[in-house]
Amino acid sequence: MAAPDYRIAPSILSADFARLGEEVRNVLAAGADWIHFDVMDNHYVPNLTFGPMICEALRKHAVKPDGTPAILDVHLMVQPVDSLALAFCRAGADIVTFHPDASTHVDRTLQLIKGEGKQAGLVFNPATPLDVLEWVIDKVDLVMLMSVNPGFGGQSFIPSSLAKLRRVREIIARSGRDIRVEIDGGVKVENIREIADAGADTFVAGSAIFGKPDYKAVIDAMRQQLA
Ligand code: DX5
Ligand code: ZN
Repeated sequence: MAAPDYRIAPSILSADFARLGEEVRNVLAAGADWIHFDVMDNHYVPNLTFGPMICEALRKHAVKPDGTPAILDVHLMVQPVDSLALAFCRAGADIVTFHPDASTHVDRTLQLIKGEGKQAGLVFNPATPLDVLEWVIDKVDLVMLMSVNPGFGGQSFIPSSLAKLRRVREIIARSGRDIRVEIDGGVKVENIREIADAGADTFVAGSAIFGKPDYKAVIDAMRQQLA
């Protein structure tokens, strides 16, 4: 099997909110692949962040050093899902992920996102079963596992997520589809290798990157672990 095409997706949840555009440009200059955008509504999760207008404003800052646009990976922790999913598709998101337990009609929400020409993903909380995946796997571009309970940055990685990653990999392998596996929560230089070995190919990291003065040093160290 070919070596996985790893992606590092810094979460701007841990960035300086007073300088978001600059933070996005700096972390991409430091070698980040995607920008992870955590949308929280104080209803599905007990915290409140940013909406589609801020996504739209950041779109023009999400550019890689070579001038190509960076992927905006929008993680919706909101309920209901559909109206905001649509708004983010139209605000420049490339990928929109949502929690199936937050949507009344998961298949419909996936169709809505795909219908806007965007990639769609499902996000599973640490205690949420993977059951729905089987029935909509043909409409899913990405599966994301939460390795912390959603709502806050800076929490510790929940170890049972490793076994769940392996399970997701099996389900995807059985489907024969090309689906990315993203992990979100508590990812650091120290644990990224074992998370990759368990099956993740895309790594969200908030506090591990934005909590340090030298973003490039952290991203380089993560890539070294993955190499
Ligand atoms: C949590 C968010 C995460 C968070 C990760 O609800 O979905 O993306 O920013 O932060 P760290 O990497 O600090 O655990
Ligand atoms: Zn997230």
